[in-house]
Amino acid sequence: MGDKSKPNDSKGQEQVYQPSDSIVKNAHVADYDTLYKRSIEDREGFWADEAAKLDWYKKWDKVLDASNKPFYKWFTGGKTNIIQNAIDRHLKTWRRNKLAIIWEGEPGDVRTFSYHALNREVSKFANVLKSMGVRKGEIVTIYMPQIPELAIAMLACAKIGAAHSVVYGGFSVEALAERIQDANSRVLVTADGGWRRGKITDLKTIANEAIGRSATIEVCITVKRTGQDVYMENDRDFWYHELMGLPIAGAKCETEQMDAEDMLFILYTSGTTGRPKGVLHTHGGYSVYTATTHRYVFDIKDEDRWWCAADPGWITGHSYIVYAPLINGSTIMMYEGAPNHPYPNRWWQMVEKYGISILYTSPTAIRGLMRFGDQWPQRHDTSSLRLLGSVGEPINPEAWRWYHEIIGEGRCPIMDTWWQTETGGFVITPLPITPLKPGSATLPFFGHEVAVVDDNGKDVQTGEEGKLVLKAPWPGMARTIFGDPERYKEVYWKDYAKQGWYKAGDSARIDEDGYVWIIGRIDDVIKVSGYRLGTAEVESALVSHADVSEAATIALPHELKGNAIYAYAILRTGLQGSPELEDAIKKHVSHELGPIARPESVTFVESLPKTRSGKIMRRVLKARALGVDEGDLSTLEE
Ligand code: PRX
Repeated sequence: MGDKSKPNDSKGQEQVYQPSDSIVKNAHVADYDTLYKRSIEDREGFWADEAAKLDWYKKWDKVLDASNKPFYKWFTGGKTNIIQNAIDRHLKTWRRNKLAIIWEGEPGDVRTFSYHALNREVSKFANVLKSMGVRKGEIVTIYMPQIPELAIAMLACAKIGAAHSVVYGGFSVEALAERIQDANSRVLVTADGGWRRGKITDLKTIANEAIGRSATIEVCITVKRTGQDVYMENDRDFWYHELMGLPIAGAKCETEQMDAEDMLFILYTSGTTGRPKGVLHTHGGYSVYTATTHRYVFDIKDEDRWWCAADPGWITGHSYIVYAPLINGSTIMMYEGAPNHPYPNRWWQMVEKYGISILYTSPTAIRGLMRFGDQWPQRHDTSSLRLLGSVGEPINPEAWRWYHEIIGEGRCPIMDTWWQTETGGFVITPLPITPLKPGSATLPFFGHEVAVVDDNGKDVQTGEEGKLVLKAPWPGMARTIFGDPERYKEVYWKDYAKQGWYKAGDSARIDEDGYVWIIGRIDDVIKVSGYRLGTAEVESALVSHADVSEAATIALPHELKGNAIYAYAILRTGLQGSPELEDAIKKHVSHELGPIARPESVTFVESLPKTRSGKIMRRVLKARALGVDEGDLSTLEE
């Protein structure tokens, strides 16, 4: 193959993969340095140019309002709605009849929506929501499997100016109840179930239990996906398909004109302490930021078929399954189920069948598929692939090379994108033209100044580990934590308040070429299979078990998942630990929080290492588990 990106060994033992000539020739951005320089010297000018590529009902007065730091505002005075750009503007062009969504269910059923058809579904459901009294500014909770109605419900909320709070379908009762309650949601949209590894999930049953624990839900709309028997309560529960068949579900619905800074959605994510926080994003800045990052980093062309194989219940799905690709008029692939069901060739079969040109997924998924061997992808013609992407956790060079050689056939550059729920979109990422080093997310995106510093904000030495900070605001940044602006200041902006920098919560190093290497979280956030969980949440699920009086959790490295959760529990007086009890406690965590939070093991202990002020010293537990030096123990109480 003449078109391979080739590694060279110019940097000693480190391989650098140069982009192929055809990638460079066709890229939207041919010269990173020049545009980057411009984006830093005239940040507002850069973003204004990008914003001008979108439609606005009314142009903004000011690009950036920094009068109340760190509560930055973007494009103030501007009027828009993300739907204006994600759907409405395409209806006036040939894209009206372009495929917006190709969806495949795990059992093999297929549904497709043109932009015209998507608009029709979204408008109808928007009218249904209106008929249920949903108003601008209200937060609708969505708890669904990966089916088209999940995207339709999100878009319908946005269209009428309501905000959505999507709760990942892999979460369970308490996680859902807590999020419903915090968002004060009156309306819940869910499904009877979904398909996963040939089995049916019990979403509606979980939703019913969660509704029982949270007093706010008045209306629950359920999509019939699997057809299993579910409990529906009179006057509270409605079937989606029945509502969509009523005259209230008219196919015409005006898109609500929003202020650029109006809330688009909140998305709960885990932090260091306490309850998950509702990270808030807005219509204007988020539209501009996600569309720009998507277009430049993945070099989006009209003929692309884009597949972000994440779940819409996480930020990756919000930004890069639903909003950015629709704004850019792409054809989106969505798949409901497990990558290896019924066989480990499922993804590669879909790449071939639909002619996918860009695949964006997580290191965990790559490692998981790699373990089945090369023969599965090699059965399929994956020559439609042009670019690959990775997100969610550091990608180990071995998985990177497999992805590059076997899936991308040496032809497709890998965009290893570092970002967070809070950043809205990519922050540190290659472009297709960037020389790549396996395992590095490479360089800052336009408009970003990134540094790795010590506690005082001083740059650490080249190649040394330090804390990752972002030095300037960007349009896609979270605006606040819903209902808790103080916590927003405290978590992200307090440590470097003097300098006005955003603390990412990750450690990283920067090499002699300015390439960023992400190491991992420095707080009590655990990344399990790329999913973000807090030790505090898992511990609270553990102690809600009747037999557990105290608990601590730590993350230990795991070959497939990146990290896995290990729990330590003190039982109530007089109780004895046993394998049966361990199993029951694991099941309990699954039931409360979700299967992703299920600990690998629960170790019964008499006491936990604590500081004199009573804080659990998780690093001591971790050091012991790994058999390494426990470090400074001077603050340890016992
Ligand atoms: O630790 C970093 C890791 O994921 C965290 C953010 O998690 P979340 O808000 O759930 O968003 C995930 C999807 C954007 C970061 O603080 N992370 C994300 N992308 C990468 C990464 N770590 C290394 N390399 C990445 N490409």
